[in-house]
Amino acid sequence: MGFRTKQIHAGVTPDPVTGAILTPIHQSTTFVQESVDDYMAKGFSYSRAGNPTVAAFEEKVAVLEGGAAATAYGTGMSATTAVMLALLDAGSHCVVSDVVYGGTHRFATQVMSRFGVEFSFVDTSDAANVEAAMRDNTQLVFTETPANPTLKLTDLAAVSEIARSDGVPHVVDNTFLTPYYQRPLELGADLVLHSTTKYMDGHNATLGGAVVAATEELQSKLRFIQKSAGMIMSPQVAWLTLQGVKTLSERMDRQSANAMEVASFLEGHPKVESVSYPGLESFVQHELATRQASGFGAMAWFEVRGGVEAGKKLMAAVELWSLAENLGSVESLITHPVTMTHGDMTPGERAAVGITDGLVRLSVGLEDAEDLIADLAQALDRV
Ligand SMILES: Cc1ncc(COP(=O)(O)O)c(C=O)c1O
Repeated sequence: MGFRTKQIHAGVTPDPVTGAILTPIHQSTTFVQESVDDYMAKGFSYSRAGNPTVAAFEEKVAVLEGGAAATAYGTGMSATTAVMLALLDAGSHCVVSDVVYGGTHRFATQVMSRFGVEFSFVDTSDAANVEAAMRDNTQLVFTETPANPTLKLTDLAAVSEIARSDGVPHVVDNTFLTPYYQRPLELGADLVLHSTTKYMDGHNATLGGAVVAATEELQSKLRFIQKSAGMIMSPQVAWLTLQGVKTLSERMDRQSANAMEVASFLEGHPKVESVSYPGLESFVQHELATRQASGFGAMAWFEVRGGVEAGKKLMAAVELWSLAENLGSVESLITHPVTMTHGDMTPGERAAVGITDGLVRLSVGLEDAEDLIADLAQALDRV
């Protein structure tokens, strides 16, 4: 079956009791058992360990990514937490992309490090750096591609190969491209992670996360942490996200086309120093973007001439674009990573990975491209 068919039908069957076409919201903590002998005969006991609405969502994400199974979480960060708790022992080591979502960096360096786990943040755009960073106690390779916010790409097949030869699982944060455009498991990765808060939901309505495992063995490790640490997604969120995913491909295609138009407009603008969008031929890793994904996504960034001050003026001048921290929604959002998403990194850490003071990140939405461009044009005129 094709992706569009799967995004609508996978994991979902009409309710056997009422025929409801939408999976009901099973807003129940507990599930009554027929007898001690038949314990869990219907598959559910207590919603921290599993819930039918959440299970439908987990099944859908697993099918879309082509994995064995999936677990869903209350936030994208709890999905990251679950992966690290499931796979990293005290005293172990993890290789991470040097550009990752700021919250991932914070959790690694300020929480996991307290348990003696060491992290090497390396430029995973060159797979040789991953190979050089591997140690005897390395237990996980964690990449994010395209990375938040600079959009640096990691060659997933090359890094997966290195991780596999060392017997170490490779997890990929696939939030920016979603399985519609990029399927890391097909390229050799072992786990895929999502902040479903972004494109999966797509409507700025929920916080959620998911991890898809390539094997049942990895899945059982994740399921154990999901239950033991109490991180499962709520039934209401699972239901809303189930509806959001049904239009994922349509939103991704439209938003990506808009992003291409916006990026092309910015590239020719005299007040813009540089523009970065994987779909532009000027994008340093354009060839890799074309090779490992079937679309370029709807995230872009640019550097306005005049540094921080100009960036701040620009963000005050936009009217249609919302100054807001989320991404992936139908509404177009504009962000200043240094003061917002990546504020917890030190200036030195940011500079080392190219998160400059004037970097402005765009999450291009579903509005008419000409309106988005007109708004940026009037705002740039006032900078
Ligand atoms: C790439 C990426 N991964 C993970 C997260 C964390 O997700 P959440 O905010 O749902 O906890 C984010 C949030 O912005 C993100 O951009």
